[in-house]
Amino acid sequence: MAPETFRRILITGSSGFIGSWVTSTLTKRGYPVRGLYRRNRMPAHLEEIRRAGAEVERRDLTVREEVRLSLQNIDAVIHCAALVRDWGYERDYHTQNFEVSKTLVDEARRAGCRVFVFLSSLSVQGFGIHRGSTEEGPFYPYVSGYQRTKKAAEEYVLSQSVPGFRVTVLRSGNAYGPGDSTTFYRLLAAQEKGIRGTLSGSRVLTSPVYVEDLVEAVILALENDRSGGQVFNITSGEEVTWAQMMDYCAELLGVRPWFELPIPLAWVAAHLFNRIYRLLRIKADPLVFPYRVAHLAWDYNFSIDKARRILGYRPKTDWRTGLSRTVAAYRRFKEGRNSFL
Ligand SMILES: NC(=O)c1ccc[n+]([C@@H]2O[C@H](COP(=O)([O-])OP(=O)(O)OC[C@H]3O[C@@H](n4cnc5c(N)ncnc54)[C@H](OP(=O)(O)O)[C@@H]3O)[C@@H](O)[C@H]2O)c1
Repeated sequence: MAPETFRRILITGSSGFIGSWVTSTLTKRGYPVRGLYRRNRMPAHLEEIRRAGAEVERRDLTVREEVRLSLQNIDAVIHCAALVRDWGYERDYHTQNFEVSKTLVDEARRAGCRVFVFLSSLSVQGFGIHRGSTEEGPFYPYVSGYQRTKKAAEEYVLSQSVPGFRVTVLRSGNAYGPGDSTTFYRLLAAQEKGIRGTLSGSRVLTSPVYVEDLVEAVILALENDRSGGQVFNITSGEEVTWAQMMDYCAELLGVRPWFELPIPLAWVAAHLFNRIYRLLRIKADPLVFPYRVAHLAWDYNFSIDKARRILGYRPKTDWRTGLSRTVAAYRRFKEGRNSFL
């Protein structure tokens, strides 16, 4: 489908890491876009996108009336907004991830939209042994409300896929790239303070995806009529360990981080912190918690064969190239140059 076949495409979470890349890429390619942000101040890159011709609106998606207003004259939705934290409270995840997605898909269908693309996460398959896992499994028990509510949202939005309203779920791996200030830049900052970002002795596989490849997958899902009612794993398709990635980051930064916890101690600390923080209703992230430890303790490698076969997805950026670009952008970010697009 050419860009001009869409009346206007709604992108939620345009102020976030992935949403900002999706919004700017689609705008640059000539798609008619409406990007949503929520916080008080419009981020600078959205101001740029607005000047380039996109509509930009401030909306809180927990308010149904605001969802309805944002869907006026829209025929496709790319839903990136979510509470994307590894640690948090069940009620917050339920509202931001499940209820918002339910309202949005219900209202999009009612408003006559044709296409709905939902950004989900490979973590909905739980943490256990994943070596080339497909969309069909295996699945393991959850350690976070993030996983539970993203899975519940997946199931609900897919249940709404009917002829004339095509719903596609993309399960992203660990997305990284320039602008990832909430996750990857923090890891890099920790490495500069001596924290290696790994568990000692752990050599588990991980599933990176460079953000520009993920955006290509979103565009393929948007345009491909065969994607309806389907789930696709989206990663770089490489076999790489988390330790290899962290060591390469340290090399690029020119630092030698040394601190890491052994796996058994990390598990004990994670459960202890988890209980104490919940008991005292502390909002900040604990130093370690079960989701983070599970991520670093289990193989997390998934097959992208289905996305290759049906969507024609071909990731282009290998992890070394992607990390070089990310570290270069992190350096610019530290100098106060925030623009990364
Ligand atoms: N990053 C990853 O590695 C990764 C991996 C797998 C899946 N995903 C999925 O990809 C999507 C985007 O993730 P991200 O990393 O880009 O997260 P992010 O940077 O935290 O962005 C999330 C966005 O959602 C917006 N948002 C949250 N609740 C909202 C609400 N009630 N109303 C309006 N906007 C709301 C936020 O707005 P504010 O900025 O105003 O708060 C922000 O723009 C999510 O669905 C996530 O589950 C991400």
